[in-house]
Parts: sequence; structure tokens; C-alpha cells
Amino acid sequence: MADEPRKYRSTSWFGGAGKNAFMHRSWMKNEGHPPDVFDGRPVIGICNTWSELTPCNAHLRTIAEHVKRGVYEAGGFPLEFPVMSLGESNMRPTAMLFRNLASMDVEESIRSNPIDGVILLVGCDKTTPALLMGAASCDLPTIAVSGGPMLNGNFRGKAIGSGTHVWKFYEDVKAGRMSVDDFLAAEQGQSRSAGSCMTMGTASTMASMVEALGIGMPDNAAIPAVDSRRAILAQESGRRIVQLVRDDVKMSKILVREAFENAIRVNGAIGGSTNAVIHLIAVARRLGIDLSLDDWDKFGRDVPTIVDLMPSGRYLMEDFYYAGGLRAVMRVLDEHGLLHGNAPSVAGPTIGEIVVDAPNYNGEVIRSFEEPLTPQGGIAVLRGNLAPGGAVIKPSAATEALMQHRGRAVVFETIEHYYKRIDDPDLDIDASCIMVLKNCGPKGYPGMAEVGNMPLPAKLLQQGVTDMVRISDARMSGTAYGTVVLHTAPEAAAGGPLALVRDGDMIELDVAGRRLHLDVSDAELEARRAEWVPPTHDGINGYQKLFVDHVLQADEGCDFDFLLGKREAGIPRHSH
Ligand code: FES
Ligand code: MG
Repeated sequence: MADEPRKYRSTSWFGGAGKNAFMHRSWMKNEGHPPDVFDGRPVIGICNTWSELTPCNAHLRTIAEHVKRGVYEAGGFPLEFPVMSLGESNMRPTAMLFRNLASMDVEESIRSNPIDGVILLVGCDKTTPALLMGAASCDLPTIAVSGGPMLNGNFRGKAIGSGTHVWKFYEDVKAGRMSVDDFLAAEQGQSRSAGSCMTMGTASTMASMVEALGIGMPDNAAIPAVDSRRAILAQESGRRIVQLVRDDVKMSKILVREAFENAIRVNGAIGGSTNAVIHLIAVARRLGIDLSLDDWDKFGRDVPTIVDLMPSGRYLMEDFYYAGGLRAVMRVLDEHGLLHGNAPSVAGPTIGEIVVDAPNYNGEVIRSFEEPLTPQGGIAVLRGNLAPGGAVIKPSAATEALMQHRGRAVVFETIEHYYKRIDDPDLDIDASCIMVLKNCGPKGYPGMAEVGNMPLPAKLLQQGVTDMVRISDARMSGTAYGTVVLHTAPEAAAGGPLALVRDGDMIELDVAGRRLHLDVSDAELEARRAEWVPPTHDGINGYQKLFVDHVLQADEGCDFDFLLGKREAGIPRHSH
């Protein structure tokens, strides 16, 4: 037997001389494992979202090999297994529809197998929350390892950012500032290496959340996918997870409330994606921590955005890593009393100890509180009669002049209605109008697609209009920007007041006052509600039916009602 401090979970599969142990070991030996790996050492599951259909995660099998080195070095036994991969760029109608499904795959794969500790290999947007959620419900010792961002995009000598420049160039084409040939040429230079989006989109945001939460190793956020130091981080994670199993450091010992409060503040400082709001609430609630939308406003409110990355700023993830990465940002937060320095980390030292001496090599990329990119960087949570359950806006990606605005609503009942109407030359719309999009929320789309940053009408783009207030129950890509109010709850399809807005209504947005108000009398709204016909969801079946019946609203994290909480990883009964 291995010289281990305890008997681990996996020994109830691999230990002993009975019929079942024979079976479990014997079949595994067809992979060429020597007998001694079944001697009671920690078995580490490497949960892999590798897929050629998820380009951002296509290199994760290589990363897994580096994790395995570390696990073997530390005396553990690594076993890699696949779970559903969620690729943002290809999956329709939206990868978000499948986040909870993937989380179920992860949870059940962990619990049903001889695993003592877990490495989560993540990258593309939804893969990170899906794996964290599933693993959290099992609560074994766990480390997340992100695949890392792509190298900076480059088009004719200029840096271009994943997603951000797609939005920008597409608007340029519509406004007549860019030719279609140039547009297609830019496509060749955007994705130059393995890795995830290299803007501060959702993937980079979630990789930063992993590091800020302490559930990943220092520098997890920013090391480019193809930098050899990413492989080293993977190897070190492999070493550490074996120790975490020996020390019985479960996920819930790392992901404490203070860790989430740290992550919310970090999100403000990096100008992170609005999608993180939904994902962190969902992860926290798997652990029984009642993280709320109000926590996002409370802890993020006064945090300036100091990272000058697209979509809010100028630079990209490669620059961020060379400038010192997330540790340098967290040090600034710590120095301003905005970090729980005693929060734990899978690396061993506390978060405070990890960031205390972190250097900043480039004050342009990682700025100071005194000269921030945006003074109030956190996600602002809006409420009012249009969003009783709340709505969010990302001030760092918005236009200052529009953050307090009263305008006439131009309403799109569905995304198809929007496509049909938006470039109609007769559409009665000007730059002061507020574009309202309905039925794109969790149940409405279904899956809450990233369509909230709906492009402006071509005729206004051609006049030089660059931004307008937009309101919806949808999400937007973390790579997108604009004065865009998202996640309006309850959503239109669930009977939220958004469903009652009509063309010509006046709407008031007041970000500083955290207010979103529909200037229509209560009596008129009641009359409209009486006429409102709820969607039937006709034709929705299979998994989508499960989704529509059980998904929670955006302010509750969009998890399924029956997945909240921990179910731990007890040892299931025998299969034979
Ligand atoms: Fe996968 Fe952006 S599309 S990370
Ligand atoms: Mg995205």
C-alpha cells in the first residue's frame, strides 16, 4: 500500500481482493497501468473540455499531459476524461443553453468514478462556469486550469482583438468606412494561435475569476496558451492537487464568501464581462453561498477599472501578462483595502501573500486608482418598474453621456423582428431613441443569447452615430461594448414588465442613481398586462423543454432549480 495519510474515496473501487476490486483494476490495466498505481494513492481526474469544435479549447489535450507530469511527480495517479465541450463561436442557438447540461455531465462523471481530486481544464466562455458548477456540487479537492488566451490578433501591423474588432469592423462596413474585402482580410489575422479570446471577454474574465477566487494557480488569468509558462502552470497544478487531496482541502474550503467578494472587485478592476455576474452567482449557489445581484453592486460599485484592455480599453491579454497580469491588479486592490487578503488559494499561501510583492511592468496596461480607465468600473445593477428583479450595465464599456438618458422606445418583439426591421429606411428612429429587445432571456430565446448589443441601424451608423441606449433581457458577449442594459429580470417571456413596453413609451436610464424606469402609469401597465399573451413554448421539446421548465432568472444565476446546492461525492453503491 502507498504511504498515504488517509484512505481515499478511490480505494473503495481499487482497494481489496474482492470481485469488484478485481473488475475495477483489471479493466483499467488494459490502458497499460502498472499494478502499483492502484495502491491507494490519490487518483486525480482531469476533466477535459477538449474539442475540435471548440477552437479555444482545442489544445487542452496537450495541457492535460503537463498536468499528468505534475500528478505523477507528486505520487498521484492521473486519469483524463472528457465532458461536454461548449464552444462559443459555433454552438447555436447559444452555448449558454448548454452550460447547465455540461455541469450535470461534470458532476455525475466525478461522483460515479474513482476520483479523489479534480483538475478542471477550461477555456472558452461557458466551459469555466459549467465545470466549476458541476465540481462544486461534488465538493472534492479541485483546481481549475485555464487554457490561456491566444496571442494578440494582428491585422496589417495593428493589434486586433477577438470579438471586439468583429463588432467594430462590421459596423464600419455597414457605415461604409470599410470594404468587404478588407473585412475578410482582417479575419485572417484575428486568431493566430491556440487559446481563447485575447480580449477581456468572457473567457479571459472567467480565467481571471478562477485566479481571483483562489481556485486556480497564480497567473492563471493571463499566460498565453502557447507560452511555455502555461505548460509549467499546468504541471504545478498537477503537483498541488495531489497535496490538496492529502490535506483534504475541499473546494468549499477555497470558495468561501470572501473569495467571491474578492472576485467581484477584481471583475470591476479588470473591466470584466457582464456574463461573470450570472456565472459567479450560479457557482456560489452550488456551494450554498447566497451571492446576489446586490452583492455585485455593493462590492463592485467603487472599484475603478484599471486594466486598459479591449473591449473597454486598448490592449490585449498578451500585453496584460507581460505587464504583470492579475497579481499586479490584485495588489492594487489590496493596497486600497479592497481585497480579503486572508482568503485561501489552492496554491497554499493566502491571496494576500500571493499578491503582496506583485510587480507592475507597464503602467499603461495596468493603471493606478489615481488614473484609472473608468473611475466606477464595477457592474452597475439597475432597478425600477422596468426591472424589478434587476438589470445590469457595464459602465466601462458604455458612453459617459448616455449613462443618464431619457428616450423614446423603439421596440423589437423578438430577434427576428429586430432583423426584419432594423435596416428598414422607414423605421422611425434617431440617436436619442432607446432600442428595446424582448424575448431573448433564459426562457425566451431559450438560453439567453448574446444579442443584447444589437447593432445600430445602418442609417444612423452612416450619420456617424456610434452608440445608443439598448435594453433587453439578453446577455452580450464579453468582447462587446456600448451603453447596453442587459439581463433585465424578470424576462419578457416570464411576464416581466419588459414584455409590456410599446413603441413610443418613454424610458429613463440613470446609471448613477441605479434606476431603470418605464414612464407609463401603473394603470396603463395593468391594462397592457391583461392583454399580454404568455409564450406557449410550442415546439420546444427534449432538453430545451427541461431548460425552459427549470431555468432560473438571470438575477438567480440561470441555474436549474433542481441543481442548486451541494450533493457531495459520496460513494455510490456497486454496479455489479
Ligand atoms: Fe471561445 Fe471567445 S469564442 S473564448
Ligand atoms: Mg463570448
